[in-house]
Amino acid sequence: MSCTAKGSELARTVEALISPGKGILAADESTGTAGKRLESVGLPNTEDNRRALRELLFTADGVEKFISGVILYEETLFQASSKGTPLTKELADRGIVPGIKVDIGTVALVGSPRELYTQGLDNLRQRCDKYYAAGARFAKWRAVITIDTAAGLPSPAGVRSAAAGLAAYAKVCQEAGLVPIVEPEVLADGPHGIDDCEAVTHEVLSVVFRELAIAKVQLETILLKPNMIVPGSKGPAATPDAVAAATLRVLRRTVPPAVPGIMFLSGGQSEEEATKHLELINKLGGSPWYVSFSYGRALQASALKAWSGDAANAAAAQAVFIQRAEANSQAALAK
Ligand code: 13P
Repeated sequence: MSCTAKGSELARTVEALISPGKGILAADESTGTAGKRLESVGLPNTEDNRRALRELLFTADGVEKFISGVILYEETLFQASSKGTPLTKELADRGIVPGIKVDIGTVALVGSPRELYTQGLDNLRQRCDKYYAAGARFAKWRAVITIDTAAGLPSPAGVRSAAAGLAAYAKVCQEAGLVPIVEPEVLADGPHGIDDCEAVTHEVLSVVFRELAIAKVQLETILLKPNMIVPGSKGPAATPDAVAAATLRVLRRTVPPAVPGIMFLSGGQSEEEATKHLELINKLGGSPWYVSFSYGRALQASALKAWSGDAANAAAAQAVFIQRAEANSQAALAK
């Protein structure tokens, strides 16, 4: 495919992903993380259980009204439904764009072992070509930033290596015809307050966009997946209005208007919190970007519980999932 043809395909994929009232379902838990989720409802971490949960979500009646894309783990990209249909076809038949997580997880950063460095750049181009051939049209790479103000974290080196990794990944994806979701997640673990999250996220996003510019990533065909500005899980609480105001303030100060969409991660917020915050951010309005969701836990938690591995509960679990997806769709529309 020529460069121009690839560029217009990237633009079409972005357009589809940011359709008004729609957001992304993150169903790309690694096998280990999927195991933790299944274990929480008493299920063993078998390939069949992982497939069954994902099939239930992807085939829920009306899912395509609220979900524009699904981020898959490599196993799911090549997996078939209980009826033998490839799961990517189940999505594509509903007009939902299949995406793929292309990072391969984190390791301790050399020189600052409490910080994490995301791996997966080796052979990334070959893997992207394989994923494109299997039907993926967008990708995700998650960089992780830890806040511990007393210990001076994040370190400048930690932020810089996270941002440089995201930029290198994004450039490779665009060359391979995959829209890169750039996800620098400032973790909410710890006792820090909302102000620390704001200051660190501001710094991280500033450095990320500097690195994207250095790597000549085309901003018009990326999506940003940031954390919202929230206090640490053991920090002093903040009101939903304060979260929304701080989140929009940081994004306005750091994210160029050329970026078409901001699709938040939920990062351990409850389902209701994640929806409420998205609604309030959109009600503040005036954003140059489409602002929506790319939630994992905040779309799946209740559905997983309702299902709990029993096929007899599948329809009820699908209804719960659709309820969450619709509520977030309304929030994306500032309703
Ligand atoms: P959460 O919404 O559960 O944070 O997951 C989104 C995601 O894709 C994290 O990488």
